Amino acid sequence: MKKYTKIIYLFLLLFASIGFYSCDSDKKKDATETKKVSDDDKIVDGIHVRTGLKDGKGVLVVAHTCTVCHSADIVMMNRMNEERWNETIKWMQKTQGLWDLGENQKIIVDYLTTNYPMPKATRRANLKNINWYDLK
Ligand code: HEC
Repeated sequence: MKKYTKIIYLFLLLFASIGFYSCDSDKKKDATETKKVSDDDKIVDGIHVRTGLKDGKGVLVVAHTCTVCHSADIVMMNRMNEERWNETIKWMQKTQGLWDLGENQKIIVDYLTTNYPMPKATRRANLKNINWYDLK
C-alpha cells in the first residue's frame, strides 16, 4: 500500500488541477451503479486511484458506496469475515444512515472478504521429533 501512496497523491493532484475531480454530491446518486467508468474510476497498477482500493470484482460498487461518508482507509483497515461485514453494514444502516444496499451488499462483502481477507493464523506449527531428556 505504501508503495502506491505517492502515485495516488500524484493522480489526485493531477485530477484536481485539471478539474476532473467531481464533487461529492454526485457520489450518492452513483452509489448503486455497478459499472461507471470515468476518470474518477481510473485503475492504475491494480489500484483504484481515487480510493486506494485494490482492483477486483466489485471494486467500483465498493468505491461508489463505501467512500461516500468516510475514506476507504477505514474499510481497508478492517479485516473481517462475511458475517462480521454484514453486521458492520447493519450497524451503519441502524446508526449512521447507510441505505439499503440491495443486491450490492453481496457484491461488496464478496469483494471485501476476497481482497481484504482475515489475517492467517499466526500460531506456529506444533514441534515434531523433540529429543526430550531427563532432568537429573
Ligand atoms: C451513510 C454513511 C456511510 C456509508 C455510505 C458507509 N459508512 Fe461506514 N461508517 C459510517 C460512519 C459514520 C462510521 C463511523 C466512523 C467513525 O467512527 O469515525 C463508519 C464506520 C465504518 C467502519 C468502522 C467500523 C468500526 O467498527 O470501527 C467500517 C469498517 C466501515 N464503516 C465500512 C463501510 C463499508 C464497507 C461501507 C460500504 C458498504 C461503508 N462503510 C459505507 C458511515 C457510512
